[in-house]
Amino acid sequence: MFFLFCFELLHNTLHPRHYKEEAEIASMTWKVAWSDVVLFNGDRTGRASAGPAGAAKFGSRLSIGRNSILSNLSNEMVGNFASDKQLFIQTANYKGMIVAVKPIPRSKVELNRPLLLELKRMKDVTHDHLVRFIGASVSTPHCCLLTEYCPRGSLEDILENDQIQLDAMFRRSLIHDIVKAMAYIHSSEIRSHGNLKSSNCVVDSRFVLKVTDFGLHSLRLPTDEDDAANDHSSYAYWKRKLWTAPELLRMEHPLPEGTPKGDVYSFAIITHEILVRHGPFYLAGDNDLSPREIIGHVKNGPPHGNKPPFRPSIEDDLGDEQVVQMMKRCWMEDPNERPDFQVLKATIRRLNKDNESGNILDNLLSRMELYANNLEQLVEERTADYLEEKQRCEELLYQLLPKPVASQLIAGQSVLAETFDNVTIYFSDIVGFTALSAESAPLQVVDLLNDLYTCFDSIIENFDVYKVETIGDAYMVVSGLPVRNGNLHAREIARMSLRLLQAVGHFRIRHRPNEQLKLRIGLHSGPVVAGVVGLKMPRYCLFGDTVNTASRMESHGLG
Ligand SMILES: Nc1ncnc2c1ncn2[C@@H]1O[C@H](COP(=O)(O)OP(=O)(O)OP(=O)(O)O)[C@@H](O)[C@H]1O
Ligand SMILES: [Mg+2]
Repeated sequence: MFFLFCFELLHNTLHPRHYKEEAEIASMTWKVAWSDVVLFNGDRTGRASAGPAGAAKFGSRLSIGRNSILSNLSNEMVGNFASDKQLFIQTANYKGMIVAVKPIPRSKVELNRPLLLELKRMKDVTHDHLVRFIGASVSTPHCCLLTEYCPRGSLEDILENDQIQLDAMFRRSLIHDIVKAMAYIHSSEIRSHGNLKSSNCVVDSRFVLKVTDFGLHSLRLPTDEDDAANDHSSYAYWKRKLWTAPELLRMEHPLPEGTPKGDVYSFAIITHEILVRHGPFYLAGDNDLSPREIIGHVKNGPPHGNKPPFRPSIEDDLGDEQVVQMMKRCWMEDPNERPDFQVLKATIRRLNKDNESGNILDNLLSRMELYANNLEQLVEERTADYLEEKQRCEELLYQLLPKPVASQLIAGQSVLAETFDNVTIYFSDIVGFTALSAESAPLQVVDLLNDLYTCFDSIIENFDVYKVETIGDAYMVVSGLPVRNGNLHAREIARMSLRLLQAVGHFRIRHRPNEQLKLRIGLHSGPVVAGVVGLKMPRYCLFGDTVNTASRMESHGLG
C-alpha cells in the first residue's frame, strides 16, 4: 500500500501534466447545475422560434421519434419540447448566455472514467467552426447537454429558405467551414463525427458555419427501449441514414462514432445539398424514391458491369465544376479512394485561390456584403408587407370617415368641427319596413338591407356625395361636404335620388320576390356643422336645423 502511494506520488511529481489532467477530470468543469438553467419558451423570448431568418417558417422537422426521448425528461422540459412536431432546439439562459439544450435520452447518467475524460475533452475543444460545448446537466431527471446557440439555425434551414441567396462564393465558404471543422475533428481525440448531416451544421449570427453534435456518443444514442427512434417503419429512421456511407450501412452493428472516411461521404451528401438545394439525396426526374428505398440502393453497392453506384443526381447546370468533381471523389464507393479532410482543406483553398483573390479580408467583406444584400432584400420585402397592411388599414378608415378627416386623424391631429354654409342632405326610408321585418326572419331582413344598400352604395359612387350613415332602414347622404362644391350639391343629390328611386323600382326582395319595395325620400338644403365625435369608434356627424328639416321632409312625406 505504502509502495503504491509512493509510486503515485513519484509518478505525479515526475509527470505534472498527468497530474493536472487528473485534477481537471476530478474538477468536472463541464458540470451544469440545473438550477442555473432558465429554459426559454419560444413565445416568451422569441429567440427559439425567431432564430434563423424567419426560422419560424423554415425550421427543420424533428423526427417523431424524438418525442419518445422526451418521455425521460421532466414535465417542465417536455412541455417545451413536445407541443409541436416541427421543433427547434430548446434554448435557455445559462449564466447570462443563450445556450442550446439537447436532452440526453436517458433518465440517469453513469459517470465512469472514460465518460469523465470525454466530457473534459469536449469542454476543452475550442475551434472557430465547432459549436462550443458548454456543459452537461446529469441530475435526474434533467439530463441534457448545453451547447453554444447559433441563432441562424441549421444549414438545412438556410438551404430550405429561398429568401436567402447563396452565390458560388457563399456556397464555397460554407463548404470550407465544414472542411475546416472536420479536419480538426479528425486530427483531434474525437477522431470522427459519425452523424455529420445538414441539421448538424448550424450557422451563427455572422453566417459562420459550425459543426455540432459530435462526440459523447454514449450519451446521445437512443436506448433500446426508445421504440420510436428504433422504428424501422418510420420515415425519420431512414431519413437519418441518407448521409451514411454504404460500408457503414452494411455493418450489422454500426459504430456510433462512424469512421473518418464515412464522414467524408456524409460531407459529399451535404455538398450536394448545398449545390442543388433540394434536400438530401435529391434524385432528378420523377424518381420518387422513399429514404428507405434510397438506402436499399446505396447499401446494395454498384450494379454489375461498369455502372456507377447509386448517388444523388448531378444535373449539367450545377455550375462550379471543380466543387462537383471534389464531391464525386468524396462519395466514391471505395472508402480508400475518398480524400481525407486535410487534402480537402488544401483543395478548397486552392479552388478559392484560383477563383478569387484568396485574401481572407476580401472574402470576409464579400461574405458580409452578401449577407447585407440578403438582409436588404428581406427588409424590402418586410417593408412592402408593412406598407400593404398599412394601406389596407387606411382604406378601411377612409370607408368609415371622409378622406381629409381620416388623414388628419392618422396624422394625429385633432379634427375641428367645421361650418358649411350650404349643403344638401338626403334621407330615405323604406315604406312599411317595420311591418315587413315583423313578418320576416332576422336573417332575411339583414339580407334585404344588405342587398339594397350594396346596390345604393354602388349608385352613389357616381355622384359628388358623401354617405353619412345608415340607421336600420334609413339611408343618409350629403353633398357639399367635406369638400365644398358651390351650388352643385342640390343638383347632385336630386339626380342621385332619381337614380335611387329608379333602382328601387327594379329591386327584388329575395324572400318576397313578388313584392315591390317603396322608398320615401326627404331632401333639404342649408347650413350645417360637421365634426368628429368621440374617440372610440369616432363618427363624422352633421348638426343643425338643415338635418332635422331633411329628416322631417322624409318622415312626413307620402309613402
Ligand atoms: N447549437 C444550435 N444552435 C441553433 N440551432 C440548433 C443548434 N443545435 C440544433 N439546432 C437546431 O435544432 C434542430 C434540431 O437539432 P437536433 O440536434 O435536436 O436534431 P437533429 O440535428 O435533426 O438530429 P440529431 O439528434 O441526429 O443531431 C436542428 O435542425 C437545428 O435547426
Ligand atoms: Mg443535431
